[in-house]
Amino acid sequence: MATRCIRGAITVEVDDREAVLAGTEQMLREIIKQNDIKIEDISSIIFTATNDIKSVYPAVAARAIGIVDAALMCVQELYIDGSLRKCIRVMISIESDKPQSEMNHVYLEGARVLRPDLVKKKSKLAVAIDGPAGSGKSTVAKLLAEKYSLIYVDTGAMYRAVGLYCLENSIDADIPDEVSRVLDDINISLENSSGMQRIYLDGKDVTEAIRTQKAAEYASKVAAIPSVRAALVKLQRSLAEKQSVIMDGRDIGSNVLTDAQVKVYLDADVEERAQRRCHELAEKGIAADKAKIEEEIEQRDKNDKNRECNPLTAAPDAVIIDTTAMSIDEVSDAIGSLIEKEINR
Ligand code: DC
Repeated sequence: MATRCIRGAITVEVDDREAVLAGTEQMLREIIKQNDIKIEDISSIIFTATNDIKSVYPAVAARAIGIVDAALMCVQELYIDGSLRKCIRVMISIESDKPQSEMNHVYLEGARVLRPDLVKKKSKLAVAIDGPAGSGKSTVAKLLAEKYSLIYVDTGAMYRAVGLYCLENSIDADIPDEVSRVLDDINISLENSSGMQRIYLDGKDVTEAIRTQKAAEYASKVAAIPSVRAALVKLQRSLAEKQSVIMDGRDIGSNVLTDAQVKVYLDADVEERAQRRCHELAEKGIAADKAKIEEEIEQRDKNDKNRECNPLTAAPDAVIIDTTAMSIDEVSDAIGSLIEKEINR
């Protein structure tokens, strides 16, 4: 027998006694099950909790499930920008005949793998979310990015940035050759933190400037130009190669990341999508004409679905979700369970 270490982590929804103890118990039971451990073989457990957990020491859960002889210790984790929220981790020391390499480390409920070298699954996670304008892609993608510590990549923002460049530099977006000619001069960069993306055009932050109706119109036109798509798809793939991403757009599952482990296509009635857009504008204090918005959305759908190069389409292996009658939380839970299945596979 030799001393071995097993790691585990879980996130909880709320910082209350019941949730923290139930989450910790779930994690400990899963570690015990996956490693076939006898309680008396556990010599010590170090628990850490992020600094937003204040309601109870997680170690209390260990006593409750009969781990009474082992030495237990709870410490608060350092907070580093981008750390997971409400996360409890453990390092369990056990006496075992098995080699360290056979220990099963357990990560539940989106807990980030802080030691990716210790888990068997090594490839980066890619979550592709496609769908027409207003289907709720970006709202849920941002929530899920934050929850599962994924980098959020809004590819529509890239097409919008190219559209904005054309708009500001009097480039006719209806003439593909004109746009292709200036493509090398367009310098797009992205910055990500806590599920948010900021986009820069030639070093200038254009995150808000690309959201106008005019920029959307130009985006839809430049998105039909093959040279523009080739350049942006290259950038999108290089981002997904470096890190685990949740990427939203029109052709992510069908073209950009065809081997994404999770592919979702969100749809909703055009009327509902126009209603959502009106609501968004109203929240910003902008009056909106619903009929006009519906018309603009229909026009963009038409452009996006009918273009020759990488049109808006569901990948054959995508899970299709009609969000018309669903709340954001319902959509995000549905996609979250697909992500969790993948993480724990
Ligand atoms: O999602 P959005 O409205 O920000 O997208 C802006 C435009 O870019 C939209 O007309 C569709 C296009 N687009 C695309 O063709 N392919 C993508 N992967 C993302 C967006």
